[in-house]
Amino acid sequence: MIDESRNLDRRRFLQQGLVGAAAASLAAPLTRGQDRPSQLIRIGVIGVGPRGQWHVRNLLTNHPDVTVVAICDIQEDHLDAAVQIVKEMRGTTPAGYAKGEYDYRNLCQRDDLDAVLIATPVYWLGRMTVDALRAGKHAALEVAGPQTEEECWGMVREKQKSGKHVMFLENCCYGNENMMIYNMINHGVFGEPYYAEGSYVHDCRSLFFDPGGKITWRGELQRDRYGSTYPQHGLGSNCKWLQINDGDRLESCQTMMASGGHESHLRTVTQFGPGSEQARIQFKQGDFVTSLISTAKGRMIRLDYSICCTRPYSRYYLLQGTKGCWDSRSGVFLEDSSPGKSGAEGAWEPLAKYEPTYQHPYWRENGAAARRTGGHGGIDYHCISDFVKMLREDQEPWIDVFDAATWSSIIFCSKLSLDRGGARVDMPDFTDGKWKDPSWRKGRMQIS
Ligand SMILES: NC(=O)c1ccc[n+]([C@@H]2O[C@H](COP(=O)([O-])OP(=O)(O)OC[C@H]3O[C@@H](n4cnc5c(N)ncnc54)[C@H](O)[C@@H]3O)[C@@H](O)[C@H]2O)c1
Repeated sequence: MIDESRNLDRRRFLQQGLVGAAAASLAAPLTRGQDRPSQLIRIGVIGVGPRGQWHVRNLLTNHPDVTVVAICDIQEDHLDAAVQIVKEMRGTTPAGYAKGEYDYRNLCQRDDLDAVLIATPVYWLGRMTVDALRAGKHAALEVAGPQTEEECWGMVREKQKSGKHVMFLENCCYGNENMMIYNMINHGVFGEPYYAEGSYVHDCRSLFFDPGGKITWRGELQRDRYGSTYPQHGLGSNCKWLQINDGDRLESCQTMMASGGHESHLRTVTQFGPGSEQARIQFKQGDFVTSLISTAKGRMIRLDYSICCTRPYSRYYLLQGTKGCWDSRSGVFLEDSSPGKSGAEGAWEPLAKYEPTYQHPYWRENGAAARRTGGHGGIDYHCISDFVKMLREDQEPWIDVFDAATWSSIIFCSKLSLDRGGARVDMPDFTDGKWKDPSWRKGRMQIS
């Protein structure tokens, strides 16, 4: 727990900009019972491929009161690169863990860690989160989160048992437009929201094989699994807009899939040749996947997903309410203020027109820093800042374990729906009915 004196220490520390002094004091090893600089947040990172390395940089660039104490990766070159980042940025040497796939458990057991950030391939995220919680650490995990219903429940139950915080690092929720829509909904601008669309359509085929031609976890995802296998970039904002787990819940899902594996196969043949071993791979995943999700309160979400479509990156969203609509591909129409009337006379307006009034405070106050240093156009800055805030203020995060489990459940529900020919599949309620009370998560971080 962080007490007020610790917060005061931390504030003073930040005001005085004592980063160098803190870094120097970290050179001494920190062991149980030993005094340590109370203002420092000590983080261990598991999985330092491109994403994990980026998190290390982001943490150290934007948060002087954060230090990275330990790093784990089974690939030594990745581990070395991440250790080097910390050395260059802080002058300290984090402990390294690289002795096999379960060495991360030794990192989790360290006494000198406040939290563990996990950025490994998707198959590991759920179980590593559970192990971090069992070791008494707060945790943050990357998308696409837990993969099975057992993993989702495991994370939820372990969080409840441990009392530790879990933040799901779904960064697209932190986009300027996505947060602005959230703010506008909270100001009643759209009336009652009842329909939303979200998508993640990102041609990732260049990442299906490593430079040596070996299939990667992203390629395996496409080869071995099907359905909405990486759903949260499209779904997270929709759920926040429709108050999922805060007064409503995802109830059922129906999924349809287009043209099994053509685009993945075509690209593989072009890349490796028709006679290659890779060209014989049968990709189970469809080229395009759409899920329709209903909520307990009779609302609906449409979720589009593809990581193999031939087109530039596109992530589109729509929010429909009783007083207006935002379509990221067309603009915004608000009954009370847009020109014309709904229907033939109406005209879409640019969302930017409403920015002076409704831009989210995160972007208004820190938009420039986010764009400059945060990654993915700034969304990572806000996402990681919330993770640090969770630790600094000892508060449940905005995107918590219940959101992680709920949003991830589309992975196995969409597969089940496809197995049943597109039938409606009931979705689990990870809140055990608490969602009915919109204020049951009142004590957590408030975003607007
Ligand atoms: N939110 C986003 O915008 C975003 C963007 C990219 C990646 N991601 C997520 O971040 C994660 C990592 O992505 P990436 O592109 O860096 O992948 P990557 O495969 O390049 O890197 C993953 C790293 O984890 C390591 N690893 C694998 N198993 C391990 C184990 N048992 N113990 C320790 N280390 C292990 C690998 O050696 C590798 O260095 C994925 O879950 C991915 O979905 C999210």
